Formats: sequence, structure tokens, C-alpha cells
Amino acid sequence: MAEVKIGIIGTGVMGSDHAAILAEGVANARLTAVQDLSRERAIAVGEASGARVFAGADELIADPDIDAVMVCSPDETHAALALKAIAAGKPVLVEKPLAAGIEDAEAIISAETNAGRRLVQVGFMRRFDPGFREMKHTLQSGELGHALFLHCIHRNAVAPDYLTSDLVIANSAGHEFDIARFLLDEEIASAFVTSPPPTRNAPNRQPQFILLRTASGVVIDIEVFTDAQYGYDVRAELVCEDGTVSLDPSPHTMLRAKGHDGFRTPPDWRPRFRQAYRAQLEAWTSGILTGQPTGASAWDGFMAMQVTKACLQAWRSGERVAVPQHEKPDSY
Ligand SMILES: NC(=O)c1ccc[n+]([C@@H]2O[C@H](COP(=O)([O-])OP(=O)(O)OC[C@H]3O[C@@H](n4cnc5c(N)ncnc54)[C@H](O)[C@@H]3O)[C@@H](O)[C@H]2O)c1
Repeated sequence: MAEVKIGIIGTGVMGSDHAAILAEGVANARLTAVQDLSRERAIAVGEASGARVFAGADELIADPDIDAVMVCSPDETHAALALKAIAAGKPVLVEKPLAAGIEDAEAIISAETNAGRRLVQVGFMRRFDPGFREMKHTLQSGELGHALFLHCIHRNAVAPDYLTSDLVIANSAGHEFDIARFLLDEEIASAFVTSPPPTRNAPNRQPQFILLRTASGVVIDIEVFTDAQYGYDVRAELVCEDGTVSLDPSPHTMLRAKGHDGFRTPPDWRPRFRQAYRAQLEAWTSGILTGQPTGASAWDGFMAMQVTKACLQAWRSGERVAVPQHEKPDSY
């Protein structure tokens, strides 16, 4: 295989963004097919990218001219589509979360294990963000000693009405759980959640403050505020024994206008993580060609979901909740 021919299922916000990056050109990858329940949406992306438009996901997965599949449809569709791709022996990049429920995630792990090779990657693209990678590298170099605290902030300008307080944890905070595991290279042992009242801008949900502790005792705090109004803002600072390392707040440009002098804040996550989405696609397709997958595995997706589940229990009970620990199968 000289290049990976990719089919995208779900051409909404994320699917069309991945399609646009592929259409710009990603080494060894070509977008050849798209499908969406909304045929109109699939046609629009197909016309912009030159990809064939399929009427159904099953047909796309089975097509012999498609080497690998991206699942960019809503959370509750992820597991069934990933299982079909595994059954067809095709690599699949599943947008986060891996599945909508733990049992579905377990079914994916067992299907992949039975298939005898890694076929699933989860779309935790922050693992490919240059800033987060440098933080990890700094920690691993040992120059700052061991980690003590990881402070994380995740703010959106506005969120859709359907986003409940539960979903702020179950959907928005998932990236934080994965990046904490990735940076610190260990599992999360416990979770506690507390929240201020809803804001006047979003009376139907509460911002969330999540406190995690890793197996070795590193303390992680995460603010998830989906209605911060001013823009999309992700921050992280890793505090170690001999210094700290944090994400550079700067995007690529500064803005001076209307009494303001400073960094631009993007309206949503796509510009902020554009480079990471591209690097994720490059790593995924090169892993398919070399047989050496990188990126978040189905196991990583499953463990992030365990943290999510513990946080939801912690939020409802007001108690600190232990995150169940599992033995990682040899295949991961
Ligand atoms: N990695 C990230 O940074 C990131 C960011 C946002 C969303 N996401 C994830 O990406 C996924 C998609 O989110 P989105 O914001 O693009 O949603 P969206 O609603 O904009 O798009 C989803 C699309 O899937 C289509 N669809 C629904 N059911 C389908 C099915 N059974 N088969 C084919 N198409 C179907 C819808 O018609 C819609 O066009 C979600 O799982 C979400 O959690 C990831």
C-alpha cells in the first residue's frame, strides 16, 4: 500500500474538518469516501474534496477501495461502527470518546484483541500538540525532578443547549483525562468533583472543577467551563520539584485593536489544535503503513472512560471515588 485510502463516516463539524485537512494534503493519505446520515452534508464535503459519497456506513466500511475508516459521527454510534471496521480488518480512527458506555468499550477491546493486531486509534489529538509533547519530554528528561501538580483549564466560548452538567464531565473533560495519563505516564487512581452554581449565560449546566490523584500521588486539578464567553482557551501547567513547564498561551498572532493588545483567542478548538489534528492524521496513516501504530489506543480510550465514570459518580455523591484499575492486556 503506497497510500492509505480513507473513508470518513459523519461529516459534521469534526468530519468536515478532518476532510479539509486531508484535502489540503497529508503525506501517504487520501480521502476517497464520505458518508453521513445527512446526505446533503456528505455531498457538500464530497464535492469540496473529490471523495465518493456513500449512502450507508456499512457499504463504505466494506468497500475494497477503502483501506481505513474515520468515525466522526456522534458518541453513541462509535462502538458499532468501530466493531464493523474491526470485523472488516480495517484500521479505524474513532473520534473521542471511544464509546458511549464502558461495556461497549470492552467489546471493542476484546474484538481488537481477537483480531490479533491494533486496529483502533482514538482521536485524542492533544497527544500530537507540540506544546503538550514538549511538556511530556521535559518531564521525561528528569531536569525538573518528579511531577507534583498538573493544573488544567478547559474553557469554551459557548456550548450547545443540550450540554448538561453530566456532559461537561462525560464529553468536554475527556481530553483532560487522556492528556493527564499521557503526560504523567500513569493511571488516575481517584476522582473528586465540585461545582459552582450555573452562570447567567448557561442556566442549565454548572461549570465543573475536577480533582484527580494519580497512582503515585500527583494531584491534578481541572476547570471545565464551557460558557466562558471570551473564546476557546486550553491551559496546562505541570509543577515539578525544581520548576514548572506550561503551555505557551500564544497562538500564531497578536492582535491590537479596539483597546486590546494581546493574544487572539480562537472561537473554538479547531484553529487551536489544527496542527495536532494534522499530525494525528500523519501519525495514524504512517502507523498503518509501517504496522507500528502510535497515538491513543482502544485501551487509552477505555481508561479515559473509567475516569469519566468515576468523576460522574463523584459529582453525584459529593464523595471521592476510586477509579477501577485493570490489568492492561499484553496486546497494548
Ligand atoms: N477530537 C476533538 O477535538 C473533538 C471535538 C469535537 C467533537 N469530537 C467528537 O467528534 C464526534 C462528532 O462531533 P461533531 O462535533 O462533529 O458532531 P456533529 O453533530 O457536528 O457531526 C456529527 C455528524 O454525524 C452524522 N451522523 C449521525 N449519526 C450518524 C450515523 N449513524 N452514520 C453516519 N453519520 C451520522 C450527523 O448527521 C452529523 O453530520 C463526537 O463523537 C464528538 O465527541 C471530537
